[in-house]
Amino acid sequence: MFSKLSKSAYILFFAVLLVAVGIFFFTHGEEEYVTVSESLPVHYNGEQFAGSESCIACHQEIYQSHIQTAHYNTSAVATAETLKGVFDGTAHTVELIDGKAQILQEGEDFFQTIQSKTSDKLLDKSRLDLVVGSGVKGQSYLSFNGDSLYQLQVSYFTLIDDFINSPGYPNYKFSRAVTDNCVKCHVTFAKNENPKGISNVYDRKSFMLGIDCERCHGPLKKHVDFRTGNVSQSAMDPVIRIDSLSRQMQMDNCVQCHSGLRAIQIKDNPFSFVVGDQLDKYAKNYNFGRPQAELDVHGNQYGLLKSSECFKNSEALSCTTCHNPHKKQRGDYDHFNSKCMECHAAPQDLHNNSGLDNANLTDCISCHMPLFPSQTMKVRLDENAEETSVDIRTHLIGIYIEQVLQNGKE
Ligand code: HEC
Ligand code: HEC
Ligand code: HEC
Ligand code: HEC
Ligand code: HEC
Ligand code: HEC
Ligand code: HEC
Repeated sequence: MFSKLSKSAYILFFAVLLVAVGIFFFTHGEEEYVTVSESLPVHYNGEQFAGSESCIACHQEIYQSHIQTAHYNTSAVATAETLKGVFDGTAHTVELIDGKAQILQEGEDFFQTIQSKTSDKLLDKSRLDLVVGSGVKGQSYLSFNGDSLYQLQVSYFTLIDDFINSPGYPNYKFSRAVTDNCVKCHVTFAKNENPKGISNVYDRKSFMLGIDCERCHGPLKKHVDFRTGNVSQSAMDPVIRIDSLSRQMQMDNCVQCHSGLRAIQIKDNPFSFVVGDQLDKYAKNYNFGRPQAELDVHGNQYGLLKSSECFKNSEALSCTTCHNPHKKQRGDYDHFNSKCMECHAAPQDLHNNSGLDNANLTDCISCHMPLFPSQTMKVRLDENAEETSVDIRTHLIGIYIEQVLQNGKE
């Protein structure tokens, strides 16, 4: 349909659309609060995004399964559907150093208020505009003040199904500005006012929430146009075939978000990298070259996997050996264990001298990729309590005798 339209028809189409959107904003301007718009942005590389709904016509199965994933749901406009936690009409209180924060619902909207500890005077009231985190471990809230974006002091922690003080953010007076170095791993695209992405002022219309198809495949309006009415011809299709890239380039696509913070931006800004680029030319970590033992299990699956014997001794192992990027696979241990067996047949032979019962060898990952407490996702529930932390599965595949012995005792 689109490919048959001439350029001028396009311009007319968008002009009509703009007028329609304008009318919407004009008539609803006062009472309707529009967090981010539905119009689609243009990437820094000049390519227009198409949006995942435009993929349904030809990739329906992938789309249906993708919208179930933690990636797709990792950021959204805050609504009763996207917010975890119990909203039962009462306000939930979280103590800060210099105030008392509350999360409350008013009609369709959600707010964080902060009152003085001594006088109950209202010090701040911010709307929960965006929610970050699908809720596997927790959720944080972002709020616009004009076009400036901030993180709120309260978060939700799934492990205890309750609201907590966001890690490392104990007071209200120092608001935490949100820049590209925060949103880069949780949205598909957002255009910062600053070309390096270091301000917290955004073009709200440019937000594409969730990690959608085009975060991993690059902006694909041209592919949609090319394929519309042309499903058989393959030459000239601008889409990148990921399985034809080198292992490093395939991994770089995941590694941009799964190798620690990568806060040193060498080139352009955090959204400039697209699949097929070399990530090391764009960004690196402060802890680059740090010994493997110190790698935190949170967020650096790449650093850990790369240090594993499995990775060092095989040409093919990559993130997608075990993870189908379009599928929600959390908890599917049969799937993951079957991946180990593809390279390590006959597990009995591997454990001949271990004294382990052969019947108990099926859950490979429980012993060779055990759970460790995250150093970054933890909370102290009250002053004297021990820290409660989220368990993360290490990607340093190896032999963990102590863990095995301990699990055996339990
Ligand atoms: C009008 C049909 C159509 C639409 C719409 C469409 N595609 Fe495609 N796409 C195709 C066809 C046909 C192929 C080629 C399949 C093949 O060669 O096996 C393809 C190939 C691809 C590939 C490469 C597959 C490979 O072999 O590596 C990706 C990635 C892709 N599409 C993503 C998308 C995304 C993301 C969208 C939405 C933004 C989209 N497509 C919209 C028809 C479409
Ligand atoms: C370098 C990429 C990266 C950056 C930057 C980043 N995150 Fe994350 N975040 C992740 C990854 C990856 C996970 C999943 C945790 C894991 O490694 O298992 C995650 C998990 C989370 C979760 C829990 C999600 C869930 O469903 O359990 C929240 C909440 C969160 N991040 C908030 C933030 C906020 C707020 C910021 C900005 C201050 C931020 N993140 C910056 C990559 C990042
Ligand atoms: C988290 C990153 C990620 C997201 C999000 C993602 N993909 Fe993919 N996609 C990949 C990777 C990686 C491959 C290559 C898989 C492989 O080599 O095993 C791939 C392969 C494909 C292929 C070709 C192979 C196949 O399975 O048919 C198509 C078509 C495709 N993706 C379409 C989509 C569409 C449509 C969406 C959104 C509905 C989407 N992808 C979302 C990472 C992603
Ligand atoms: C734009 C950043 C980004 C990219 C690119 C990305 N991820 Fe993620 N990934 C995240 C974030 C953020 C989360 C946490 C989502 C949540 O729960 O809110 C996550 C979660 C995951 C999870 C846990 C899913 C679950 O069900 O809890 C896996 C596995 C994963 N990613 C693998 C991959 C693989 C493999 C690739 C490459 C094909 C990839 N990711 C690309 C940011 C990214
Ligand atoms: C792509 C193939 C491949 C996959 C998949 C794979 N491995 Fe490996 N693994 C290897 C290779 C190659 C070695 C090097 C030693 C060898 O040749 O046996 C290795 C070594 C190991 C070692 C010895 C580690 C050490 O430090 O001495 C363990 C344990 C192991 N793998 C367990 C696993 C488990 C568990 C899984 C599934 C989560 C897995 N592997 C998946 C190829 C693989
Ligand atoms: C040898 C298999 C294997 C490979 C290769 C692998 N993973 Fe995983 N990954 C797993 C298993 C097993 C889990 C635990 C799944 C679960 O708990 O349901 C996991 C979980 C995750 C999670 C969620 C972490 C958590 O504890 O919540 C993320 C994120 C992730 N993987 C990203 C990656 C990335 C990025 C790569 C490539 C650098 C990668 N994985 C390579 C097997 C693998
Ligand atoms: C109950 C815990 C446990 C389970 C389950 C388990 N392993 Fe192991 N595995 C070990 C221990 C402990 C060792 C070290 C034994 C030794 O050195 O004799 C080991 C050793 C290995 C080695 C290294 C052998 C060598 O000689 O280098 C590989 C590879 C391996 N396991 C793969 C697997 C695979 C694949 C599975 C799943 C089919 C699996 N393991 C299940 C505990 C376990």
